[in-house]
Amino acid sequence: MPALKLKLYQGEYRIEIGPGLLGEVGDRLRGMGFKGKAAIIADATVARLYAGRLRSQLEKKDYEVALLEVPPGEGNKSLDQAGRLYTELADFGAERLTPLLALGGGVTGDLAGFVAATYLRGVPLIHLPTTLLAQVDSSIGGKVAVDHGRLKNYVGAFYQPRMVISDFSTLKTLPADQVVNGLAECLKYGLIRDKGLFELIEGNIDEIKALDEGLLGKMILHCASIKAEIVEKDEKDLGLRNILNFGHTAGHALESLSNLAIPHGRAVAMGMMTACLISRRLGVLPDAELARIRSLIQKAGLPVNLPQDLDYAALIQVMQQDKKKQEGALRFILPEAIGKVFIQGGISPLLLAEVLKEQSE
Ligand code: NAD
Ligand code: GLY
Repeated sequence: MPALKLKLYQGEYRIEIGPGLLGEVGDRLRGMGFKGKAAIIADATVARLYAGRLRSQLEKKDYEVALLEVPPGEGNKSLDQAGRLYTELADFGAERLTPLLALGGGVTGDLAGFVAATYLRGVPLIHLPTTLLAQVDSSIGGKVAVDHGRLKNYVGAFYQPRMVISDFSTLKTLPADQVVNGLAECLKYGLIRDKGLFELIEGNIDEIKALDEGLLGKMILHCASIKAEIVEKDEKDLGLRNILNFGHTAGHALESLSNLAIPHGRAVAMGMMTACLISRRLGVLPDAELARIRSLIQKAGLPVNLPQDLDYAALIQVMQQDKKKQEGALRFILPEAIGKVFIQGGISPLLLAEVLKEQSE
């Protein structure tokens, strides 16, 4: 499969996508000129599945390897874990040119990326994403962060990796609900930027959910190229990159109101439907497009309706605290049609309440 290149003014990096690529990491490191030590950071689940093979492969290429494990889960994307990793890296003797290999999902990628950005003022970062979400989203674009208590992603940086190697064979061990979670972000790319991608997923949803390698590779490549294109145009998230937050205004509020009991992908799916319903009320999104979007979200195994017991007032309040609010009124990324969105400020809490009620019926 051809590699993508993400080009920024400070340089470019490759995003390689294919089956079995974890077996080639040693060659890629050699190709980039790294010598000596390499540190793998992985959560315990991913370490058990993939770190042994990666380690022995790197050792065969004469790297001295440390495996630094973190416990799985968002709760470990923390300064405490980062602090522990700094100590372990120093004990290992990691230096300015020692690559850190972030092997795992978005939690590991964000945490290891934050450590790579800050340890010795920055060491080379290689992303080896193993969840669908990480392969299409979090490993691309340089956002690295840890959470600060309840403040998600509040402490971080823009720190681009030196390479992303997405081995989609690793998705075979991913629990089915995590695949569905990642599919929400794939649908998001189709809806914001590319009707062809939406139609690729629409025409092959069952095969994609069954992890058909050809279709999976095509879809991940499509999504990654959209993310790369947007990041190239707006690395620091000052304009265009905001559209990646489609479905996330209501989605983040749902996640946070449920104390993370609603998984991210499911919350984003409901949030995308909220945005669609707002757009239709504003007379923009045609009914036929809305019906197609609703049907595909459902076929993907994601929810479109809100939980019955939802406290709308509390949800709207959380959304008003969102970074994107403007003087009480809310700002949303709204679909104009499949593949095209616009940013709309001034959405009143009243309109939003009506839409949320409609969405729970
Ligand atoms: P995750 O990293 O917690 O992974 C989900 C679960 O899957 C974990 O339990 C993990 O151990 C397990 N796992 C990972 N790969 C596996 C595999 N191949 N086989 C079996 N199990 C596997 O979660 P995620 O959904 O990948 O990432 C969510 C995080 O990503 C959030 O913290 C979010 O803030 C962040 N994120 C960051 C960006 C960004 O641009 N930096 C973008 C989107 C999301
Ligand atoms: N996941 C949102 C972004 O990278 O901007």
